[in-house]
Amino acid sequence: MQILVLGSAAGGGFPQWNCNCRNCAGMRDGSVRTIPRTQSSIAVSANGVDWVLFNASPDILTQIRANPALQPGRGLRDTGIVGVVLIDAQIDHTTGLFMLREGKPLDIWCTPQVHEDLTTGNPVFNVLSHFCTVQWQPVQASSPSPFSIPGAAGLRFTPVPLSSKAPPYSPHRHDPHPGDNIGVLIEDIASGRQVFYAPGFGAMEPHLDEYLGCADCVLLDGTFWTDDEMIRLGLSQKTARDIGHLPQSGTDGMIALLGRYKKPRKVLIHINNTNPILDEDSPERAELTRAGIELAYDGMLIDTGDNT
Ligand code: MLT
Ligand code: MN
Ligand code: ZN
Repeated sequence: MQILVLGSAAGGGFPQWNCNCRNCAGMRDGSVRTIPRTQSSIAVSANGVDWVLFNASPDILTQIRANPALQPGRGLRDTGIVGVVLIDAQIDHTTGLFMLREGKPLDIWCTPQVHEDLTTGNPVFNVLSHFCTVQWQPVQASSPSPFSIPGAAGLRFTPVPLSSKAPPYSPHRHDPHPGDNIGVLIEDIASGRQVFYAPGFGAMEPHLDEYLGCADCVLLDGTFWTDDEMIRLGLSQKTARDIGHLPQSGTDGMIALLGRYKKPRKVLIHINNTNPILDEDSPERAELTRAGIELAYDGMLIDTGDNT
């Protein structure tokens, strides 16, 4: 199984268009050793030909241009993307769907909660009904049951509810439901290899233990280093946890949590532009490396080594 990181940044990307934080300014003027990142998305394939897109970022056209595997190769109109899975209804994960409007009907797997958001507060599906149209494939997160995607033979997907947040425009923003945000266990059926993808991992919960313990690789929420990162910079009134992201630092943060699990390759994804780990020379990045945790980057290819 191959996981292709299309975009490794959180909403806004890196550098963010209007941001002069140390990282964004340092990226532009070369004073910080770092690389640019587009917004949050991965593609997954068992055979290297048919790819499932996880999330459709506003940067999707750039991402497709950068990744030949997703480009048309067989017909006048063609794509390597055989289906789309959405893990939430956030802008950074859904508005790229508009850019796919010239294609065939889009088969989109998402929960009823995400479907509701995408037909009300963020009505992407309504707009697309005038173009390529959307064929909604419902995913139930309340009693996780695996699903498959026609065209992506050899892969199995298990949705896992995450305690995170529905977006600000969701009708159920203040009334959380399992299904507002999911992680997905992605399995290569032939080899049994497993990857757990959860860019909106907001808090540890008992049912997540088996996924963190058994997966060969985890791709988890790397949004913020500290809970008050945005408050300290004067950029927001909300903590990381308030908006559904588990910060990396602290005794109850992501680094401490991942320290409990020996098996998986550990990769952070969906990294906010303010996060000091983006600076390759920062003490925070060194701490991450010491903990055996990698940072996803655009173009990163994770091969689960199914034949070994
Ligand atoms: C989030 O996950 O909190 C988002 O990246 C926010 C956004 O896209 O504005
Ligand atoms: Mn996001
Ligand atoms: Zn910034």
